[in-house]
Amino acid sequence: MNQVYEKLLNCYNQVREKTSFEPKIALVLGSGLGGFGDTIDVREVVEYSSIDGFPVSTVSGHNGRFLFGYIENVPVVVMQGRVHYYEGYKMTDVVLPVRLMCMLGAKKIILTNAAGGINKTFTPGTLMALTDHITSFVPSPLIGQNIDELGVRFPDMSCVYDRKMLSILKNTANELDIPLREGVYIQFTGPSYETPAEINMARTIGADAVGMSTAVEAMVARHMGAEVCAVSCISNMAAGLNTKPLTHEEVKETADMVAEQFQKLIYNTIINIGKELAI
Ligand code: HPA
Repeated sequence: MNQVYEKLLNCYNQVREKTSFEPKIALVLGSGLGGFGDTIDVREVVEYSSIDGFPVSTVSGHNGRFLFGYIENVPVVVMQGRVHYYEGYKMTDVVLPVRLMCMLGAKKIILTNAAGGINKTFTPGTLMALTDHITSFVPSPLIGQNIDELGVRFPDMSCVYDRKMLSILKNTANELDIPLREGVYIQFTGPSYETPAEINMARTIGADAVGMSTAVEAMVARHMGAEVCAVSCISNMAAGLNTKPLTHEEVKETADMVAEQFQKLIYNTIINIGKELAI
């Protein structure tokens, strides 16, 4: 059997030994959004470290566990902490948790992250809904033997971010009076922040925000046919747009500053998705 699939099934079976919970929506929490867990009616917690073979994050500010529970009556699974390619994991390990949540039943997924602002009209604290992404600078997580059980060899990526979920997200932001911008996310490997020349290039090819996580997760979710929605918290202006050097502390500080708004937006979006899509 395909080794990547075998590992995934092995992790899936271990989680299923711990819980029979069937989530409808999966949520990945980015930097500073860890507190979102407190807003959920949590029924089960599965620590990543309790799953043999599961990638565990090494970055400060990233916990490592799945929360299973309800947001109003919507069954959700929440990833508190993710792993990144720059930590040294294979790209197939980086995306394993997202695939696992889809296998557990989530047909819709909401991805969040902290990102650098490339679009000059953004400021730290801006929230940006992803309309598309550029992954050409990171290895594809779909490289290798295709996992036919999950999806096709050559998946379509012409509409990664689901229009219906995006419209619910935008309406929710409107209702809550939370400013929400839209844009294209570009993923680089990190761990260094980019150079000003790289940011100029990224802007020239159409990127509005830059990060080190979300696009490959969106790609595997689409490969499996899940519907994807994603929001970036612009935690800093990208390299060259600011006189100060970039630091992880700045990223965490801004993410914490807008955490309350961000949490409110995601919480209510999930409720509205539940209502509109009859979950
Ligand atoms: N670049 C890449 N990733 C990031 C940034 C950035 O400026 N800010 C937060 N994540």
